[in-house]
Amino acid sequence: MRLAIADPPYLGQGARYEHLHDEAHRWDDPRAHLDLLRQLEATYDGWVLATHGHGLRILWANAPEAARIGVWVKARRRAFPMTRVSWGHEFVIFRQPGGRRGAAYGKAEEPSMRKDVVLTGDTLFAAVPRSGGRILGEKPPAWTHWALALLDYRPEDSVEDLFPGSGAVTDAIATYPHGRCPTCRSVLPSTARRDAVYCRNACRQAAHRKRASVRP
Ligand SMILES: C[S@@+](CC[C@H](N)C(=O)[O-])C[C@H]1O[C@@H](n2cnc3c(N)ncnc32)[C@H](O)[C@@H]1O
Repeated sequence: MRLAIADPPYLGQGARYEHLHDEAHRWDDPRAHLDLLRQLEATYDGWVLATHGHGLRILWANAPEAARIGVWVKARRRAFPMTRVSWGHEFVIFRQPGGRRGAAYGKAEEPSMRKDVVLTGDTLFAAVPRSGGRILGEKPPAWTHWALALLDYRPEDSVEDLFPGSGAVTDAIATYPHGRCPTCRSVLPSTARRDAVYCRNACRQAAHRKRASVRP
């Protein structure tokens, strides 16, 4: 599947990125965000689009029927002395690829079956990068892993980071914790049974032998 993560300057925040990109002001116009939404839907099987509350108002009204909303609650937020309310959340609008709404890798209700099972809720609690990150809006690795888990990211998928900025999202894509066989640590193929723990029978038998040999 072809997946994308889009983290553009949020609506009205173009000026804050002018030192990084000549056309950053483009993102002050709601039409740029709606164009991006259309491009995501036309080009990718699954996508995640980051936004704040102000942008959500416009984007959600124009999102495809299959789109959903996720919330990132910033577990450690910065204090802004000029605002009465310290805003501590952002949003993603995401579209799961067709046929991927079921639990990823293993049964969600039995997380003990798999050490690496990715349980995904529509809400992420994660701190912002320390000192606000290298650039405004840099996402913590947990954000990218959550975004990918929403799409049920699998080893054979491609993912494009459309607004790389600091490179944090691209870096985190490379460290996504795909389900792994506990014996040989290889990534479980997406064709594995949904409750599969080991990648092949030989690994299952090796684990049983190991357990038998340590029994008193
Ligand atoms: C919210 S930041 C992305 C942050 C990134 N995900 C990270 O974790 O570091 C938005 C990025 O879009 C870039 N940008 C601004 N205007 C752009 C434009 N017209 N086309 C492409 N990129 C643009 C900015 O330079 C900035 O790096």
